[in-house]
Amino acid sequence: MCGIVGYVGKRRVVPVVLGGLKRLEYRGYDSAGIVYHEDGALKKFRSEGKLINLENSMEEAIGAASHIGLGHTRWATHGAPTTANAHPHSDCSGELVVVHNGIIENYHSLRTELVEKGHVFASETDTEVLAHLIEEYLDGDLRAAVTKALSRVEGSYALGVLWTGMPDTLIAARNHSPLVLGVHEEEGGFMASDIPPLLPYTDQVIFLDDRELAVLTAEGATVYSLESGEEVTKETKIIAWNAAMAEKGGYKHFMLKEIYEQPRAIVDTVSGRINPETGSVELPEMNLSDEDLAGIERIFLVACGTSWHAALVAKYWIERWAGIPVEVDIASEFRYRKLLIDERVLTVSISQSGETADTLAGIRLAKELGSKIVTICNVVGSTMTREAHGTVYTHAGPEIGVASTKAFTSQLAALFLFTLYLAEKRGSMEADQRLLLGRELINVAKVIEKELPILQNDIKELIEKFYDSRDFLFVGRGLNFPIALEGALKLKEISYIHAEGYASGELKHGPIALIDKEMPVLGLAPKDSVYQKSISNVEEIKARQGRLILIGSKGDEHLKTITEDVLYLPEIHEELNPILYTIPAQLLSYEIAARRGCDVDQPRNLAKSVTVE
Ligand code: M6R
Repeated sequence: MCGIVGYVGKRRVVPVVLGGLKRLEYRGYDSAGIVYHEDGALKKFRSEGKLINLENSMEEAIGAASHIGLGHTRWATHGAPTTANAHPHSDCSGELVVVHNGIIENYHSLRTELVEKGHVFASETDTEVLAHLIEEYLDGDLRAAVTKALSRVEGSYALGVLWTGMPDTLIAARNHSPLVLGVHEEEGGFMASDIPPLLPYTDQVIFLDDRELAVLTAEGATVYSLESGEEVTKETKIIAWNAAMAEKGGYKHFMLKEIYEQPRAIVDTVSGRINPETGSVELPEMNLSDEDLAGIERIFLVACGTSWHAALVAKYWIERWAGIPVEVDIASEFRYRKLLIDERVLTVSISQSGETADTLAGIRLAKELGSKIVTICNVVGSTMTREAHGTVYTHAGPEIGVASTKAFTSQLAALFLFTLYLAEKRGSMEADQRLLLGRELINVAKVIEKELPILQNDIKELIEKFYDSRDFLFVGRGLNFPIALEGALKLKEISYIHAEGYASGELKHGPIALIDKEMPVLGLAPKDSVYQKSISNVEEIKARQGRLILIGSKGDEHLKTITEDVLYLPEIHEELNPILYTIPAQLLSYEIAARRGCDVDQPRNLAKSVTVE
């Protein structure tokens, strides 16, 4: 989705803002713009397409002696991705500009009203009404004008405003769209849609809450409630990520770097939370009392995309080990059905970003219905973590590639811990078993670390036969069924090959009609409790001449009799196979997309953080 960066301080503003926008590229965008204040006027640059176009269009301005400005990457919602629709948008005088992320739902009526009052619009965007509405109320006091304008607005916004009348001040405001402020005594004040743009300059951040406005100067930030107009005391949080953690570190793509970071991400997620002697699990941020935990009768897992696949795996784990019935919902569907939820239900949202609009709306509804909310999340202080009763953080570090990799396996690690925690609290698992599974969870990180380079080499050779396929199927059974879904999502989103995931046993109920000698099928067939069934299913594919790639357990020579394309993984405890078997699916997708010359980190039409419903 759109990205916002704002800066006021001692540095020259253009490199700070441009650099910040580059760190938000992962969010997806189709046009970009920058504005800064110089010699009593606003200088505005905008262009279609990638940031490099913007950079080329403003060569002369890169070194401008300006110390305050705003930048924006736009992901089109209202109006085509043209230069005219790119942000910043100006009022009639050209002395006030706005950058905006979100959707102004009542923009039609506001626009009509403003046009009747004589305002002249230059774009098709919903955002432009904000500039004219603020202009309408501006009478020397920018904060008052923005507050008044926003009282008229329905919808979501993260907003940055700059006005020539207050050349040392930026205004930021937020409602249902992420916006974070960065502060530093020497460096000045920053605003951004996410943390990475702030990291080179400061680790001190303030998360704006909904309906809050901030006045940002080089000296710091003052936050006000948009409802009462009163000043709000905000906590400044210290972010432990450093800028290097958000850079490519020598890898060709962020996605590949993030695939290789998975062992570390899993270890960091598990570390300190499981006692290696007793197998006892500590999740203090979950904030649920023993009484709350004992009273849970059902669990709803709510998530989107890759995070939804993590939820599907967790259903198997929680039902098996904690004995609690689990329902798994795609967040965008969750709200639109009759929900049988009350205080006996625990709702768990799973989200890398903690900002996904559908998931957020889902937990808000579940909360209203009386459910306790826990969120499994990667971003400290994100909206979801603030609205949930408790949190289990994944410690994957910043994930930049749009395709989720390390966030997914860290979610699985966190959900496995969560399962052990529930099982311990509810007495549904013996300590010995917990200890064993806890050790296996840590072991899986070591196995992945060792296998990653071997797998990547094997896969590089293999994909020459498959990279130009038009379609692909992924099949798996039991715990590996969601991994088949995840593998197919990974491949389609970054390579644009049409791919579907199926439960192996479901093939004969329809999809097997697709199998012929052109159809590649990746089958997950570890030596687990459903191994024989999985083998029967892949034999059915072979009998119809499907082009099989099998991923199975080292030493399983039988797989070689089915197809020559076999990738082997060490045998580990079968409960942890979903984490291990995700790795080859990710690498296969990555290598195919890279071979096809696709924009791996920023696939077309996709955004990292989907903050609109
Ligand atoms: O930030 P979230 O985990 O809530 O995001 C949910 C999905 O948008 C996300 O998992 C998406 O499916 C992935 N980028 C796919 O790789």
